[in-house]
Parts: sequence; C-alpha cells; structure tokens
Amino acid sequence: MLQLCLSWLGMGPLTASPWHLLLLGGASWILARILAWIYAFYDNCSRLRCFPQPPKPSWFWGHLALAKWQCLASKGTSRLDMFEHISLMTLDSLQKCIFSVDSNCQESDSKYIAAILELSSLVAKRHCQPFLYLDFLYYLTADGRRFRKACDLVHNFTDAVIRERRSTLNTQGVEFLKAKAKTKTLDFIDVLLMAEDEHGKGLSNEDIRAEADTFMFGGHDTTTSALSWILYNLARHPEYQERCRQEVQELLRDRDSEEIEWDDLAQLPFLTMCIKESLRLHPPVLLISRCCTQDVVLPDGRAIPKGNICVISIFGVHHNPSVWPDPEVYNPFRFDPENPQKRSPLAFIPFSAGTRNCIGQTFAMSEIKVALALTLLRFRILPDDKEPRRKPELILRAEGGLWLRVEPLSAGAQ
Ligand code: HEM
Repeated sequence: MLQLCLSWLGMGPLTASPWHLLLLGGASWILARILAWIYAFYDNCSRLRCFPQPPKPSWFWGHLALAKWQCLASKGTSRLDMFEHISLMTLDSLQKCIFSVDSNCQESDSKYIAAILELSSLVAKRHCQPFLYLDFLYYLTADGRRFRKACDLVHNFTDAVIRERRSTLNTQGVEFLKAKAKTKTLDFIDVLLMAEDEHGKGLSNEDIRAEADTFMFGGHDTTTSALSWILYNLARHPEYQERCRQEVQELLRDRDSEEIEWDDLAQLPFLTMCIKESLRLHPPVLLISRCCTQDVVLPDGRAIPKGNICVISIFGVHHNPSVWPDPEVYNPFRFDPENPQKRSPLAFIPFSAGTRNCIGQTFAMSEIKVALALTLLRFRILPDDKEPRRKPELILRAEGGLWLRVEPLSAGAQ
C-alpha cells in the first residue's frame, strides 16, 4: 500500500534519487520532521502559526467554503455533501500554504485540484484490486493511464513553482526569502528551498517536489474526513453544537473582526473536546502498520516475532469498551481536561503515535478549529433524514457522501 501511495510521487525504481530511496526505506521523515519544526518555529509569532500571513484580513474566510454555503443556503436550508465541499476547502488552503497559490477551486474548476482528487480516488480504487498492484499491469489499464496523466499534471505544476522560485532565489539571493520571512509570507516551498543538511547541502528539485506533494496528498483527505464527521456529530447533538457556538461567540465578543488569532485556538476548550471525541468515534485514518524491529511480548505471554508486520486498528483502539464505556456514544466530556481520565495516552491515537506519527497534526487541529468556529458562527448544521453508513477506504468516508443540512443562523432566528 505504501508503494501505491508513493507511486504518484513519481518514485519508480528507475526515477528514484537516493533521497527517494531513503523515503521508501523510511528515513526521510527525519528531514521532513525537522522541516516541520522549522516551519512551525519561524512563524512562532504570527497570527496563525501554521498558515502564511494572510494577505488580506479575510484570507481564511476566502479559503473556507462558507461564502459558497451562504450563497447556496440563501433561500433557507441547503442539503450538502460535506466531503464534496470540505475537500475543496482543505485543498484550497493547502495549496495556499505550500505554494502560495490561490486555486479558487471552490468557485471555479482547477485542473490541479481536479488531478489531486482523481489521484486520491484512483489510489483508493487500486488498493482494492491487488492484481493491479504491479505497475506495468496497472499502466496498461484505462485507470492506469488516467493515473499517469494526473501524476504528470501534478508534477508539472509543482516543478514549475519550484523552478520559478529557484530562479528568483538565484537572481535576488536569500534576501528575497528574508524579506518574505519578515512579512510572514514564507510558504512550505520557501522553507524547503532554505533547508540544508549538516554539510550545507540543500535539497534537489525532485526532493522538494516529493515533500510538497506528500503534504498535499496526506493533508487534504484526512482533514476533510475529520471535519465532515465533526459536523455530522454536532448536527446529531444540537446541545453540544450550541455550546460550541456560544464559546466562539463569547471569545469574539467586542472584536472588530471575526478573525481567529493564533492564541484564540487555546481558548476554545469545549470545541476542542468535541473535535477530539469525533476523532475518537470517527477516526479519519482507520489503520496503521508497523514492522516489529524486535520480538514483542503480549500481556498473555505470547510473542510477535521480530520482522512481522502488524496492522493496528485505530478504529478498534478507539472503540475498545474496556477503555471507552459505551464506545458508540458521542460524549465530548470524555476529553474534559477538568476531569482527566486514567487512560493510557495510547488509547486515543487519531494521528498515530511514536516517532512516525502525523507530521501535520498541529496544522490539522488549527485548521479544523478555525474552520469549525467560523462555520458555527454563521450556520446551524442539521442532520439529514437518512443516517449515513460508514465507508472505510484509505480514510473513513460515508457511503454515497455525508449529507447534512446547512441553515444560515439568521434564517433560524426569523
Ligand atoms: C485530521 C487530520 C489528519 C489525521 C487524522 C492524520 C493522521 C495521520 C496518521 C494516522 C498518520 C500515520 C502515521 C503512522 O503511520 O503511524 C499520518 C501520517 C502523516 N501525515 Fe497526517 N493526518 C492528518 C492531517 C495531516 C496534514 C494536514 C498533513 C500535512 C499538511 C499531514 C501529513 C502527514 C505526513 C507527511 C505523514 C507521514 C509521516 C511519517 O511517515 O513520518 N497529515 N497522518
């Protein structure tokens, strides 16, 4: 499966640079992690640590589906598939943060975003067709050809951004990046361009492309699934939804603008509890796998021998009734910091755990909090008539989409 996911990064055995081979071998995460720390660090004082400085006060608003929802729901309640709308929002904001490009994909078609969506669905489809795991067979199929075409489009886009940025760097020198750092408009490509190893060697264009594309790929579907199921759980529990809304309204009371600042993110305890409980009940990533580097002795004395690959069910861990009483019940108070539970830190692992856990979790939690807070300020989210059925794919989806009803708050008050 790892190879299927990596194949779209352009990492065939013939094209792989030593760096790519390291990534395949599981070592490049060290670099990626260092970069993530640098990225979080440089922006320490900005308004939203994980996002580039908005060029306009309405930057994030512009990257949320909310303006579109307002339009769709202008005549009352609108029935919307959350996955469809939210995935465009997460892709839009990722493209902005990684490349500083405004895709405007929520208003009009974007070929690049369409290609990323196509790649994600093709990888999920191929995952269920083990006989097509062999590249040479897959590329003979119509899907394989679509996959190659979409890959080319995505790679060409990333290559063009990197080439252009490198040429600016060559002509203007690092001063150009320093100036961007001062105005907090560095993006992920800039950070990768500046990265050097201990011998002062930077990354090749191919390395940068692989890192940037990994973030696009790993960051959009997961956050989309998380936000969609959070809205679903809040729709089913209007009392929690209302309490979250009041918390946000209270936080922004007496402010000129409805922007969420970086420090605000720590001031939304109940909203955070609701997010965590949804990540428990509906974890976006259902399974992870690990190869045992040593014999692992289980509590009953049996041992998993070194060298075996174990699949760990995040969904199973989160629904273990001996740790989570009534595991199917949505109860945000399980995460009440005022009432800490005697649970293992490994009982809740939506972002996995250990040295290979999710690199983007701070980014994801910040994005989710901002998107949720701004959505609840404007809309009431109501359940659809039909209960969705969970659909486990590479991420947790819903069969036929996750449909909810969205009503502008002003409409409810009338
Ligand atoms: C709610 C949203 C997210 C969830 C639930 C999630 C979950 C996960 C999980 C479970 C892993 C697997 C780690 C393992 O194998 O143990 C992972 C890895 C990863 N995630 Fe996320 N993720 C989310 C958002 C993001 C975002 C926004 C980004 C980037 C912007 C991102 C980038 C990555 C990367 C690069 C890895 C591979 C890390 C490595 O192999 O060292 N993720 N994520």
